[in-house]
Amino acid sequence: MPSELPVPADSEGDAFNRRRLLAYLAASPLFAQGGVMAGLAARATPDALAQSYDVLRQAPGKIGDVIDQPSQALNVFDFEPAAKKALPPAHYGYLASGVDSDLTLKANRDGFDLIRIRARRLIDVRKIDTTVKIFGETWASPIVLAPVSSQGAFNPEAEGAVARAAKVKGHQMVLSTVGSTSIEDVNAARGAPVWYMLYPTDDWAVTEALVKRAEKAGAPAIVLTVDRQGGRNTETLFRDRRQDTRTCSDCHTPGFKNEVSRKPMFDDLDVSKVTNLYGTGMTWDYVKRLRGIVKGKLVLKGIMTHEDAKQALDYGIDALIVSNHGGRAEESLQSTIGALPEVVAAVNGRVPVLVDGGFRRGTDVLKALASGATAICIGRPYCWGLAAFGQPGVEMVLTILQREFETIMRQAGATRLAEITGASISRT
Ligand SMILES: Cc1cc2nc3c(=O)[nH]c(=O)nc-3n(C[C@H](O)[C@H](O)[C@H](O)COP(=O)(O)O)c2cc1C
Repeated sequence: MPSELPVPADSEGDAFNRRRLLAYLAASPLFAQGGVMAGLAARATPDALAQSYDVLRQAPGKIGDVIDQPSQALNVFDFEPAAKKALPPAHYGYLASGVDSDLTLKANRDGFDLIRIRARRLIDVRKIDTTVKIFGETWASPIVLAPVSSQGAFNPEAEGAVARAAKVKGHQMVLSTVGSTSIEDVNAARGAPVWYMLYPTDDWAVTEALVKRAEKAGAPAIVLTVDRQGGRNTETLFRDRRQDTRTCSDCHTPGFKNEVSRKPMFDDLDVSKVTNLYGTGMTWDYVKRLRGIVKGKLVLKGIMTHEDAKQALDYGIDALIVSNHGGRAEESLQSTIGALPEVVAAVNGRVPVLVDGGFRRGTDVLKALASGATAICIGRPYCWGLAAFGQPGVEMVLTILQREFETIMRQAGATRLAEITGASISRT
């Protein structure tokens, strides 16, 4: 039996037309030889479907330079030009920007090219299990949606559309303090509580109120972002903004007020004493103080070194996210996938280590898990999907990444996440 039969590629079935397939088979010499339908039936389990790409998918079709439906995307990169087309220049620039020359943004991607995957053969990989358990919750996938602020700038349905997509596809997500949607609404859209990412502000009363509200809403974890202490130079944003002919002040106000004025997590809070959102004066004492009020799990996001990882454990942190804010914090040229091993070594299995920055392929996910990460987060890719197509765009981004991840798990001979180990990769 030929090994490359035209079976549906995935459970989405978007580009797949059963009638066309049957017509194709009827015309095929393979059909006359018999056994093809039986072979199809034998392979048409959900697991088998995920293994093979449909030769009928994507053909025929007139697709321009930019996709105009989620189903036309071959990979998650295809969503970026579609987002650029859909967004005003300033909002696209906000999403795209790194800092300074965007070299750390690029380094996050380039870091993956330094790692190779070791293919394993003759292992039964028909059934793949990508579930992961963190803080007592089981997620269908180790791919998490990172906190991204102000998603109303990308689509009016904002975090609500993202949460619905996360629910449909079985992913966990993290809501930003400066999201365009409240945690209560996001939880309702996802059908279960999401993690809450905290920008602390420099007014403890505000910080405490934010934490209490998130905990009351059931957040399984509070994620303190610690990587925005020094200001930043988002040149790509500034350059793109020059092309935007709209009047920004119609919606935005200057300074700190702009960051919270339309952000529902600050509704009803007295922010008159707040001068800074990011906790510029924050030290480990602050982490200790926060640890004292957070009843559940406390996670630090933005750790890049073994020194800080060790310190975090001393302060009772429950998980770390290796992150440079998607190349939007410092222009360090240090990729997150490059920093991951030293953090993993310092943590030595005591708490989960997550990582984000530049994840665009299923192979990237496998490389991070093989380097000791428990899960990974994506930022821009799902926002491209959101900006271009709303909820269906986010769903397709997640579908593609998950499908690619399962494909490379099979090629690496791993049927569950525990089988992805250091032996699955080699580093140059
Ligand atoms: C437009 C934008 C806004 C972001 N807002 C936040 C935020 O509010 N809080 C936070 O901790 N990280 C924020 N991040 C960083 C992401 O959580 C994540 O670390 C990063 O996007 C991962 O890199 P990637 O975009 O290459 O996947 C933001 C990133 C982008 C692109």
